Amino acid sequence: MNELQTRKEQALAAIDAADTADAVEALRVEALGKQGWISQLLKTLGAMTPEERQERAPAIQAARGEVADAIAARKQALEAAALERRLASETLDLTLPAPDTPAGSVHPVSQVMDELAEIFADLGFSVATGPEIEDDWHNFTALNMAETHPARAMHDTFYFPDRDAAGNRMLLRTHTSPVQIRSMKEEGAPIRIIAPGRVYRSDSDATHTPMFHQIEGLVIDRDIHLGHLKWTLETFLKAFFERDDIVLRLRPSYFPFTEPSVEVDVGWQDVKGRRVLGGDGDAPGHGWMELLGSGMVNARVIEFAGLDPAEWQGFAFGVGVDRLAMLKYGMDDLRAFFDGDRRWLAHYGFSPFDQPTLSGGVGARA
Ligand code: PHE
Repeated sequence: MNELQTRKEQALAAIDAADTADAVEALRVEALGKQGWISQLLKTLGAMTPEERQERAPAIQAARGEVADAIAARKQALEAAALERRLASETLDLTLPAPDTPAGSVHPVSQVMDELAEIFADLGFSVATGPEIEDDWHNFTALNMAETHPARAMHDTFYFPDRDAAGNRMLLRTHTSPVQIRSMKEEGAPIRIIAPGRVYRSDSDATHTPMFHQIEGLVIDRDIHLGHLKWTLETFLKAFFERDDIVLRLRPSYFPFTEPSVEVDVGWQDVKGRRVLGGDGDAPGHGWMELLGSGMVNARVIEFAGLDPAEWQGFAFGVGVDRLAMLKYGMDDLRAFFDGDRRWLAHYGFSPFDQPTLSGGVGARA
C-alpha cells in the first residue's frame, strides 16, 4: 500500500516538473502505457481473491485516475503556455509605417498586357490562351501553311527532336495565331478573343529576342468585313496610345492565314528628335511605322478550325506586345526586357497598385 502511495507521489511530482509535451508523454507511457506500472498493477487484480481485490482495487484505480488527471492537466498547461509564447512572438504592429520603397514593380510587358486586356474587354473580347509547346498542325498546317509552304521557312522555328504520340512534329510556337485555331475549335462561332502570350523564334539582336510576346485578336461572326477590322484597330490604338490623332495606313500584304492580308502602319511625328506616334505619316517631318499584321481570316483556316466559311467569316490581327511597350514607354533595346536587371525594372516598372482602367486612363505612370 505504502509502495503504491510512494510511486504515485513520485509520478505526480515528475509530471508536475515535466516541461515539454514529449516528457509528459514519456511519463504517461511509463505509468499508463501497456507496459506501464499502473497498468501492470491493474492486471494483477484478476489473479486476486475477491477479498484481496476489494481491498486493493480502489487504491490502484484511484492512483490511475490521479495520474491520468495530472497528465491531462499538465499537457493542457504546456499547450496554453506554448500558445501564449506564439501569440507574444507573432504580434503584428499594424501602426508601423509601410517600407519606404515597395520591393517589386510590374514589368512593362505585364503592364501592357493588362492595358490591352482592359481595352479589348471593353470591346467585348475575352482572353484566350494556348500552349507554348505547340504541334506543327496548329502552328502551321491549320493556318494554311502546308508542310512544304515557303512561309514556314520564314519563321526560324525551334523544333523539338521528338514527335508527339500522334506523330506530330513539336515546336515552340512561332506566333500566337495557333490560338485562333484552338479557340474556334473549342468555342465555335461567333467568337471574339484576344490571345496574349510568349512566342519563340531563333533570332537575336537589339530588336529581336528568341522569346518575345504577341497578342492575337480574332473576331468571327456573320457579315464581318474589313471595315470592322479597321475600326477595331483604330479604336484599340487610340485607347492604347491615349491619343485621338492616331492615323492608320493599311497596306496590302500577304499572310497564308488571311485573305486579303493587311499590314498596318501608324503615322509618327518628330518631337525633339524622338519619333512620337500620332498624326498623318505623309505630312512633312512625319513618317509611317509598320506596327502589325492583320487581315480577313482565310476561308481555308475557318474550315481547318471546323467551321463553315459560307456562314462564318471574320478578321484576325497579331501585334508584338514588347514593341507596343517600347513605343509607348520609350525603351529602345528589347534585350533589356529579359535581362532581369533591377535598375531597369525600377526605372521602367509600374506600381502594382496602379491598375489600368479605361475610366482612369490605361496608361499608368511609372
Ligand atoms: N501571326 C502573324 C505574325 O506572327 C501576325 C498575324 C496575325 C497576321 C493574324 C495576320 C493575322 O507575323
